[in-house]
Amino acid sequence: MKPVKVLFVCLGNICRSPTAHGVFESMVKAEGLSHLITVDSAGTGDWHLGEEPDQRAIRTAQRRGYSLRHLRARQVCTEDFARFNYILAMDLANLANLQDMAPVDFSGELRLFLDYSDSPSFSKAGPEEVPDPYSGGIDGFERVLGMIEAGSRGLISAIKSRAIAHKQSS
Ligand code: 4NP
Repeated sequence: MKPVKVLFVCLGNICRSPTAHGVFESMVKAEGLSHLITVDSAGTGDWHLGEEPDQRAIRTAQRRGYSLRHLRARQVCTEDFARFNYILAMDLANLANLQDMAPVDFSGELRLFLDYSDSPSFSKAGPEEVPDPYSGGIDGFERVLGMIEAGSRGLISAIKSRAIAHKQSS
């Protein structure tokens, strides 16, 4: 099977998308799927290029056993649409920016990350976003981490189900 390539996107690439990157990467590894799923993250903005994730994001993730220290911020670019199968936005503003950038022939999944969430406590009638925690307190980072864990569990299940369906049809 060809590897599935996942890109998480937020605004600055220092809070939400690196958290998703680290959490999802860790879950993929724990499931023994690292050879089948590759992970990256990027921001729609360019203010933090080359920086490590926000210290609050690093510490919050670390308390639950996820490492983000190896990550560095970069900006999403047009080539990403040729490189990734899943491009997953943290909020609707990120999604709208990505939709504006997407080539017409992009055939992968471009949607909100939490569309995949497995947690009913986060599901509502409308589309669900991971809120920007940058200007708030540490509790916002903790809430974001919980949402990202639920999204990551759901995304792994979805990718596994697809792989099984693909195997059965080939
Ligand atoms: P992120 O959070 O999009 O989750 O990385 C932000 C980080 C930085 C800024 C905004 C949001 N900023 O305006 O610098």
